[in-house]
Amino acid sequence: MTPALEPALATLLRTMPKAELHVHIEGTLEPELIFELAARNGVPLAYPDVAALRAAYAFTDLQSFLDVYYAGASVLRTADDFHAMAMAYHRRAAADRVVHAELFFDPQTHTARGVPMGTVIDGLWRAREEAARTLGVTSELILCFLRHLSEDEAMATLEAALPWRERFVGVGLDSSERGHPPEKFARVFARAGALGLRRVAHAGEEGPPAYVASALDVLGVERIDHGVRAIEDAALVRRLADARVPLTVCPLSNVKLRVYRDMSQHTLPRLLAAGVCVTVNSDDPAYFGGYVNANYEALFAAFPSMGRAEAYRLAANSFEASFADDARKAAWRGELDAAFAAG
Ligand code: ADE
Ligand code: ZN
Repeated sequence: MTPALEPALATLLRTMPKAELHVHIEGTLEPELIFELAARNGVPLAYPDVAALRAAYAFTDLQSFLDVYYAGASVLRTADDFHAMAMAYHRRAAADRVVHAELFFDPQTHTARGVPMGTVIDGLWRAREEAARTLGVTSELILCFLRHLSEDEAMATLEAALPWRERFVGVGLDSSERGHPPEKFARVFARAGALGLRRVAHAGEEGPPAYVASALDVLGVERIDHGVRAIEDAALVRRLADARVPLTVCPLSNVKLRVYRDMSQHTLPRLLAAGVCVTVNSDDPAYFGGYVNANYEALFAAFPSMGRAEAYRLAANSFEASFADDARKAAWRGELDAAFAAG
């Protein structure tokens, strides 16, 4: 049995301002919205109802999840669909006191089905603007390449997105990790760097620590998504800590996809104690059992040794690791200090 969280700490985790830096917008598509969009767009689903779909969310590894995730995303057809999905995420994020989010999107999942790049980006961008105006939540878009596809396809995707260059802050790398090392995408990340795009990559989720090192050395990324397997290489942990390379860690995802047997096995506390700039994020919250605050709560409940100091550090790291400018980071840090002074 996981002990209950101490109430004052639970309140602080819930109410402290935070940034979310690792969330796939397609992974926020809740089953109810999947069914609504499937009906609206005439897309057949393999499950008769929401309960049956939810029951299929029992994953054994990353690939078993990705198969269900790509099937879910197939209901997205129009810019309004992307807008509805992204608005729902921003509303949910605001409720968790997320003040800023950096959102991954997977254009190849949609363009392969004949949905134009402009449709995807227009819908997401409209939600981004509306959320800033109506919810006070700011966000940025990060275009991800699917690593199970070829580098030529990634390059074509980047070129196809360039008419909307000002609408995405950077590029990322996601999907099946094993057997698809960062080196496979050296040229497209070099091109993205030359265009002034920020660079991040999933590495060390299921793949080995060597993928974390090559994402840094070959792709030139500024942040590592997941990166938890870095713990297997002490020199790499020291490197990450010394260079303040952020890891965007997703605790519930790691348990759901069986990177760890249960939350008590998670290595986040050890990475944090080693001085790594660790952040807490939700990855694919509609599939993994909770949004960002549920991730904080599950983590702190599993580690009674973690308290206020760790909560502050994780929220401060989320701002430090974001792609926002220094003035905004300083303002958020002030809000964080105020939340801790009050609670
Ligand atoms: N795409 C969506 N979620 C992902 C994850 N956890 N790892 C790799 N690719 C993903
Ligand atoms: Zn991810």
